[in-house]
Amino acid sequence: MKWNALLIFVISLMLVMLTSNCDENPYKQGKIMYNYFCANCHMEDGTGLEGNIPPLAQADYVKENQDKLACIIRYGQNEEIVVNGVTYNNPMAGIEELSDFEITNIINYINHSWGNDYGYMKYEDVKSSLEDCKPEY
Ligand code: HEC
Repeated sequence: MKWNALLIFVISLMLVMLTSNCDENPYKQGKIMYNYFCANCHMEDGTGLEGNIPPLAQADYVKENQDKLACIIRYGQNEEIVVNGVTYNNPMAGIEELSDFEITNIINYINHSWGNDYGYMKYEDVKSSLEDCKPEY
C-alpha cells in the first residue's frame, strides 16, 4: 500500500517534469512535494490551524528562521514556538525520506508562495544546515 502510493507519486512527478517547460514556475516540484508531504497539516494555502499547526504563509517564524527550515523538515520540531504572536507546542515528526535537493525545492516553494517573499534558498545552504543539525545516533 505504502509502495503503491510512492509509485504513483514518482510517476506523477515524472509526468509533471516531462510536461513542464522552463519558463513556468521553477518551484513546481517543490509545490508537488509540499502538497504531498506538508499540506495535510500546514494546509495547501500554508495557513495551518491556529493554535495547533503553525502557518507557513506570511509567517514571521519562517522569515526569521531560514537557517532552521531544512532541519525542521528532516528532523521535525518539538518545542514551544511563537508564530505571528500565537504559541504552538505540538510535535512535528521529521520527514526523513526527502533528499537535500527536495528539501531545497520545498523551501523555495514556501519562500515564494502565498505572498511570501523570503528569498532564494541555495542547495549548499540546505546541505550545510543539515550537517549542523545531524543527530548523533
Ligand atoms: C503531522 C503534521 C505535520 C506535517 C505533515 C508537517 N508539519 Fe510542519 N509543523 C507541524 C507542527 C505541529 C509544528 C509545530 C512544532 C512545534 O510546536 O515545535 C510544525 C512546525 C513547522 C515549522 C516551523 C514553524 C512555522 O510554522 O514556521 C515549519 C517551517 C514547518 N513545520 C514546515 C513543514 C514542512 C515544509 C512540511 C512538509 C515537508 C511539514 N512541516 C510537515 C505539523 C506538521
